[in-house]
Amino acid sequence: MSISELIIRRPDDWHLHLRDGSMLRAVASFSSADFGRAIIMPNLVPPITLPEQAALYRQRILEAVPDNHDFEPLMTLYLTEATRPDEISHGASSGLIKAVKLYPAGATTNSDSGVRDMQTIMPVLEKMADIGLPLLVHGEVTGADVDIFDREAVFIDTVLEPLRRRLPELRVVLEHVTTETGVNYVMASDNNLAATITVHHLIINRNAILAGGIRPHYYCLPVAKREKHRLALRAAATSGDSRFFLGTDSAPHCDSVKESACGCAGMLTSPNALGCLATVFEQEDKLINLELFVSLNGPKFYRLSPNSGKVRLFKTQVPFRFPEKINTENGPVTVFDPMLPIYWHVDNMG
Ligand code: DOR
Ligand code: ZN
Repeated sequence: MSISELIIRRPDDWHLHLRDGSMLRAVASFSSADFGRAIIMPNLVPPITLPEQAALYRQRILEAVPDNHDFEPLMTLYLTEATRPDEISHGASSGLIKAVKLYPAGATTNSDSGVRDMQTIMPVLEKMADIGLPLLVHGEVTGADVDIFDREAVFIDTVLEPLRRRLPELRVVLEHVTTETGVNYVMASDNNLAATITVHHLIINRNAILAGGIRPHYYCLPVAKREKHRLALRAAATSGDSRFFLGTDSAPHCDSVKESACGCAGMLTSPNALGCLATVFEQEDKLINLELFVSLNGPKFYRLSPNSGKVRLFKTQVPFRFPEKINTENGPVTVFDPMLPIYWHVDNMG
């Protein structure tokens, strides 16, 4: 029997780029409409490296959220080689800072202040292990000698595994996992390791970017891989395994910088994320596990309660019409096109 309605706990997004200023004001409501909380990425220019900056950024986010939306930004700090352990513990003990983000320097958008030498951040990581604060890793090495499609696997071998051997108590999220290697690594690990999975990596493989013409709106980092990896991600996300949860990595950039000879990485997926996910879980005949992936597994890892509100997902004969583009002060931003009709709609039940 096919399911056409599902009532689940209000979801959370465990990896989100909201940006700042006019872009923040243009995109915030898409997340706050459907999600109760989101882990906010700190890769602004300049990055959010101190709790005081995170507190002010949190205020700006709340101001950008419509009054009738119930949304809690969960703040993170951007780890640099100069970050001090006491800054981290002070931010965490006040309840403001929920995690710390590790960008290998040069790995992605605004990662120049990231980490070059893991050795320099060991005192911070030891403190985080002590206090149970999660480390969120952009799991890609950056060396020019490593093929871009291999960067996640090489990161696991050369950075993540040695780190976890050295500090097994450190709680780590392998953000936006994109490979079968990554999925298997998480599955074989203990509960101190989890992974977020994006909507787009469940839907596209690398052909979307490269076959029949170059499509910059499907370019993100980590870059989408070949089909067998997408299938491994779908199996992990829909399995119900508590170590996998949603992190959309919705990351808006204006069309002018995406449609360029050197286009930047990231796509805006917040406007249609939940409908796309319901479609994926339906295709896999696993709608029953959707709530685990979007609403329950994340809070469990972060040691928070699930949201008390509910959302109703329902299917109609008419595809959900999401905007192709949204307008910002700096021009249009293209919304992720899943290249398949989405019949699932979202209704907030409070
Ligand atoms: O595609 C991406 N965009 N990947 C990231 O890691 C960063 C993000 C951004 O900030 O644009
Ligand atoms: Zn991201």
